[in-house]
Amino acid sequence: MTEPGPLLEEGGADDLDALVALERESFSHPWTRRNLKHALERRHLVVLRTAGVPGDPRRGIVGYCVFDVAAGELHVHNLAVDPGRRGEGLGRRLLEIVLWLGTRRGARAALLEVRESNWPALQLYYSVGFQSLRRRRNYYSHPTEDALELILEFPGPAC
Ligand SMILES: CC(C)(COP(=O)(O)OP(=O)(O)OC[C@H]1O[C@@H](n2cnc3c(N)ncnc32)[C@H](O)[C@@H]1OP(=O)(O)O)[C@@H](O)C(=O)NCCC(=O)NCCS
Repeated sequence: MTEPGPLLEEGGADDLDALVALERESFSHPWTRRNLKHALERRHLVVLRTAGVPGDPRRGIVGYCVFDVAAGELHVHNLAVDPGRRGEGLGRRLLEIVLWLGTRRGARAALLEVRESNWPALQLYYSVGFQSLRRRRNYYSHPTEDALELILEFPGPAC
């Protein structure tokens, strides 16, 4: 039997060390351990996980996403793919599943912020239909940089 590709699961407390490591490899100003623990406890945190090998410190996690749905809006707070597994379509897969989960939870639109220089992420977001909503001056630190706030409006129910 062939092994399936990475599967989506809810992240758990045992994943915290792996998430901290992936976060540090992915961002110039990473979320702290405390931020990630809070996300595991109070937000939706999903992971793409391979079967992995026993004792794998990454616990097979190749990508993760943190999101919330409130007042009809899906907010994508964080999204990252293991640097060694980028360019394989995992980021797109993770994002598309999260968008689908958002619509299942009643979201009519998805919103997120992204560094204006983050070309790979911008390309991904534009390719699934996000559009630029506004610029947020000096939103990020380390280094200081503007954010682009992006929106994706989901089609309403057919009449
Ligand atoms: C952004 C990120 C999640 C993309 O993940 P990924 O698995 O490499 O992306 P995919 O392989 O699914 O690619 C999906 C699309 O993204 C775009 N993309 C991905 N990498 C790209 C790159 N290096 N340059 C330009 N576009 C790129 C392309 O449009 C691509 O579609 P295509 O393959 O049909 O051309 C990943 O680069 C990452 O983890 N970056 C660091 C963390 C980060 O910046 N997160 C976003 C925070 S807002």
